[in-house]
Amino acid sequence: MCGIVGYVGSQSALDVVLAGLKRLEYRGYDSAGVAVAADGGLAAAKKAGKLVNLEKALVDRPLPAGSSAIGHTRWATHGGPTDANAHPHLDNAGRVAVVHNGIIENFAALRDELAGRGHRLDSETDTEVVAHLLAEEYSVCADLAEAMRLVCRRLDGAFTLVAVHADEPDVVVGARRNSPLVVGVGEGESFLASDVSAFIAHTRSAIELGQDQVVELRRDGVTVTDFAGNPADVRTFHIDWDASAAEKGGYASFMLKEIAEQPKAVADTLLGRIDASGSLSLDELRIPDAELREVDKVVIVACGTAFHAGLIAKYAIEHWTRIPCEVELASEFRYRDPILAARTLVVAVSQSGETMDTLMALRHAREQGSKVLAICNTNGSTIPRESDAVLYTHAGPEVAVASTKAFLTQLVACYLVALYLGQVRGTKWGDEIHAVIRELAQIGGQVEQVLQTMEPVRALARSLADRDTVLFLGRHVGYPVALEGALKLKELAYMHAEGFAAGELKHGPIALIEEGVPVVVVVPSPRGRSVLHDKIVSNIQEVRARGARTIVIAEEGDEAVVPYADHLIRIPATPVLLQPLMATVPLQVFACELATARGNEVDQPRNLAKSVTVE
Ligand code: F6R
Repeated sequence: MCGIVGYVGSQSALDVVLAGLKRLEYRGYDSAGVAVAADGGLAAAKKAGKLVNLEKALVDRPLPAGSSAIGHTRWATHGGPTDANAHPHLDNAGRVAVVHNGIIENFAALRDELAGRGHRLDSETDTEVVAHLLAEEYSVCADLAEAMRLVCRRLDGAFTLVAVHADEPDVVVGARRNSPLVVGVGEGESFLASDVSAFIAHTRSAIELGQDQVVELRRDGVTVTDFAGNPADVRTFHIDWDASAAEKGGYASFMLKEIAEQPKAVADTLLGRIDASGSLSLDELRIPDAELREVDKVVIVACGTAFHAGLIAKYAIEHWTRIPCEVELASEFRYRDPILAARTLVVAVSQSGETMDTLMALRHAREQGSKVLAICNTNGSTIPRESDAVLYTHAGPEVAVASTKAFLTQLVACYLVALYLGQVRGTKWGDEIHAVIRELAQIGGQVEQVLQTMEPVRALARSLADRDTVLFLGRHVGYPVALEGALKLKELAYMHAEGFAAGELKHGPIALIEEGVPVVVVVPSPRGRSVLHDKIVSNIQEVRARGARTIVIAEEGDEAVVPYADHLIRIPATPVLLQPLMATVPLQVFACELATARGNEVDQPRNLAKSVTVE
């Protein structure tokens, strides 16, 4: 949420920052702006709307190049998406400029205080107060990093701040509390950004900033302190994907590219985690097996798509380990006084590793003495850093706002946790666990098979572009898949889309069925839980009898559904619990194609941002 870039070095600072903002635009696209330190002053430009509006403005009114610059792409919180509310914000003398991600909770009091001292504040944002406070502190200490430390000590809430001052044209200063900020270290140049994709084209050497730290960026290096000015310990890391991973690579959208990357992403997530004997080896878990054997409850916390991965994980964990598992929306978790203890394993699932709701849930769990295992896709992010252990998904950068490959890899990681818990606890499902591990090792190829057969799904999606409603039904692990299918359609196509447990139909939702309403049904495997299969075949008939147009997702060889499917989408047969890895893919393709047919921009759906760093 909000993308931030800062640069100091010998390249054109403006060009570096604009290129970085392009990479971060997925984090918010309500407005964009830049400020450059050049010719003894600051030059700034900002525009409501997408980055392209700012780029056009810069063609009409170019800014000087300069050797340091900051930039911002905004997801609006305080104040609408206008030019005035766009970042950067400058003090009245135009000597200091600041960009911000997060929410400054005590901004109203600070604003009144500043107004009382004669400051003129022009925007409705919480950020502008920081520019004015920095100017005041700088007028006394003449040191931007020190001014930043002094200001940060006065701020409540979550913030990443990055600032430049006209009097220190070779310095950029950043500060971080509860919002992401990563440093890039180059040869004679330094970078700051909300995530590494903004500077990966220039350097793969990065520093992870901790909580309540201030960083001073110069050409020849960086200095990190806490808010009191004490030197801080930092962790450096190497970014192990290259710049092309964050490019569209010939695809019309990042979403299409990321859907296509799923076979490799799931294979990468399994890589090195299944040993030659077909057992799992998850040394990185850092929680001793003896402790895992003592776990008596698992609680999964996550949001949105990651929450749906958690719902599926519950079926797997309870079946393979017989440990009770709860799944909870992270935003609800800490407000209801959940029952947690030392033997509760809390699993926090997050692609970005920065989702504030999930972060707050994990902090609450640790305060209650529970161990937290993060399942995360982003090295160096806050959630893994604050957890007791982490299992990284290796999906590579996910740029499209709607999560696709991250979801499939979260599922794989959840299965690994469930299977590993089963393996170390030696449940009666030992043979099944080994068989599933063998199947999992092949799963990338099966996802590829699904992708190869998507043309009819795309044609179907285009034919439904003028509809108002699509309903999704599933049972067992197909129920969270139905929820995920509906979420993808809502966020991309802006349509009314609802997912239901098919067994609930007769308890209310069946009243929504009328002539021609498309109903997507995720059919469980006829093998294994055949009773469930028979029941959903009845559900399909029930909606069809009331006029629904049925779109049925069913395994190869499932002939029982054929008479009742207006459209049949086939997926390869897999072990029952792994079916979501197959069944979700057509729903991603369906939502992407339908949204495109409606003229929507799939990578940047309206009102949304990736990485929701405010509660
Ligand atoms: C939907 C989507 C969101 C995220 C949610 C959690 O397509 O992407 O629902 O899944 O905001 O984000 P992470 O996984 O980064 O915590």
